[in-house]
Amino acid sequence: MTQRGVFITLEGPDGSGKSTQAGLLAERLESEGYPVTRTFEPGGTSIGKRLREIILDNKSTGMCGVAEFLLYAADRAQDVHEVIEPALEAGRIVVAERFVDSSIAYQGYGLGMDIDEVKQVNRIATRGLVPDLTLLLDIDPAIGVRRATDCHEADRIEQRELDFHVSVREAYLMMAAAEPERFTIIETGGRCVLEVHEEIYTAVTKLLETRAWED
Ligand code: TMP
Repeated sequence: MTQRGVFITLEGPDGSGKSTQAGLLAERLESEGYPVTRTFEPGGTSIGKRLREIILDNKSTGMCGVAEFLLYAADRAQDVHEVIEPALEAGRIVVAERFVDSSIAYQGYGLGMDIDEVKQVNRIATRGLVPDLTLLLDIDPAIGVRRATDCHEADRIEQRELDFHVSVREAYLMMAAAEPERFTIIETGGRCVLEVHEEIYTAVTKLLETRAWED
């Protein structure tokens, strides 16, 4: 029987460099012969792409917090069903940008939704799936949001007040402190991309060393 794969998530405030780092990590693991599957939320599946458009579009101004939350959960359910779970079952390393922790940080602490309810719905969406390792890419939100919106127009979430993004960052740091065995915090502000990548790679290698890999 194939050994179950490894589930790695990258989390963090907007503009913390998750996509760049997920790409570098996946490339390096692949070059070493590991089977890697990449995904991201919202939008890692074709259904998810359509949900992403609805969620982030600035035309969706009237969207209430609960609707926003449930759309993220729907996107996640599809991602788990279509991409993450099949890849883990096939023994692959899944590198995912954002997962349940994003909903706890953004919709829970950011929008003020009940944290237990956020977790409960996410347990349904993910069938209880929890990452083996979560890399929290930390950044001062004032810098992060500026960086994220340097190259594109701010989407509906990025447009929120700085206070919202500050709550998101604090929530992430709190979650990391509560689950130090799952989270590794990586400071990204003012550091070069490759330096951050090395730190990420070291954390991932430590996890992979605990598993036996078939040649
Ligand atoms: P991205 O820019 O990292 O692709 O994510 C899009 C936005 O969606 C980003 O501002 C974070 C937000 N988000 C949530 O608010 N809740 C979630 O559950 C997820 C996955 C993302």
